[in-house]
Amino acid sequence: MTTDLSDAIDNPIDSIERSEDPVTNASHGDGGGPVPELPRRRQVRTVGPNGNFWYVVELGKNLKHGDVRRVRFWKQDIAVFRDHDGELHAVEDRCAHRQLPLSSGFVDGKTLVCTYHGWKYGGCGTCLDISHELGKGRTRLPKIRIRSYPIKEQWGLVWLFPGDPDRAGDVPLPSIPQLEGEQPWPFVPIVATIKAHFSMIVENVCDFNHEYLHRRKQPFVKPTLREWKREGDCIRVHYDTEFEHSAVAKLFMEGGAKDLNDIEIWYQYPYQGSDIGGKYIHWLFMLPEDERTTRCFFVFLFGPIHVPVFNRKMPEFLRKPILWITNKLYIEPLLGEDKWALELEQEGFDRHPDAAQIELNPALLHFQKMSLEKWEEYSQPPARNRRQARNG
Ligand code: FES
Ligand SMILES: [Fe+2]
Repeated sequence: MTTDLSDAIDNPIDSIERSEDPVTNASHGDGGGPVPELPRRRQVRTVGPNGNFWYVVELGKNLKHGDVRRVRFWKQDIAVFRDHDGELHAVEDRCAHRQLPLSSGFVDGKTLVCTYHGWKYGGCGTCLDISHELGKGRTRLPKIRIRSYPIKEQWGLVWLFPGDPDRAGDVPLPSIPQLEGEQPWPFVPIVATIKAHFSMIVENVCDFNHEYLHRRKQPFVKPTLREWKREGDCIRVHYDTEFEHSAVAKLFMEGGAKDLNDIEIWYQYPYQGSDIGGKYIHWLFMLPEDERTTRCFFVFLFGPIHVPVFNRKMPEFLRKPILWITNKLYIEPLLGEDKWALELEQEGFDRHPDAAQIELNPALLHFQKMSLEKWEEYSQPPARNRRQARNG
């Protein structure tokens, strides 16, 4: 269902529900209904991610055979390792013995070894061997097991499922047709750690009204919010913009960027992306590490690229080097501006957590609502399960 733009713009403070007074932050409630524990702005800026999705945690190329790394999903440290056969595994980042981080250990064959007393763990989290004298020679080791996580590699990205492992098989990765088929589009991912809550980041990339921040680089020109709609767990937003006047379009798009002035952006929980005429697509895979830290994996996909000056199609072998140069010269500095602003926004929130939420973009309020819903779905089991748990 598409939300009526004019209604929302007339009521910009909170067009979904008036749970928060913009001046006093007092909760209104409707006829004495339940009063939220925290004002919505604070809930949104501290909400956790729903773990029952696949999250990108690392680039595959950074995990060579025998490598182990610590990754973080919402305050949980996880040791990710690639065994000597090339298979990926993920286990809690703690040795069951004295809680040393296993990511400070090393990979031996198919196991991860704690560096203190040498206990060895398989990819399923079971302790398989205790080599010191108190474990050696035991016909049966005590049952020692730490948590393990489903993990896989796709498109050069390492995906981890932090939630209920029984659900992992039913949850798909996002569909990215440009990366499938015989000639997948090449890309050079950009990885950045931003010291800000993920809700701020998703709002930054989906709200073109921050064009002011990029007034020198002008990646999009004169954006106008046209419409947005929610379908299931996906909110799609359309902007009209003069993309053809943007620097990157003029430089690389075949025939300039004529007719590419409709930009679709989505928040497909928990991923974010955009599409300009099917020719320029980007995805952002966020790994929320904690309330103030988010690791971001950006994938920028360019369709046919033309060679500036000669106006010819870019030969395939040149595409990756050109993408790398474009990242370095244009996209990374551009994202650097966002990172700078987002980290200041986080600091501003920390200094003024009770300030009123004044949001002029009505689509973003729906983003916030969806983030809160998805977290609640994950962190609060359905009432029936809660009753069963209470009754033992
Ligand atoms: S702390 Fe890991 S083996 Fe002792
Ligand atoms: Fe930006």
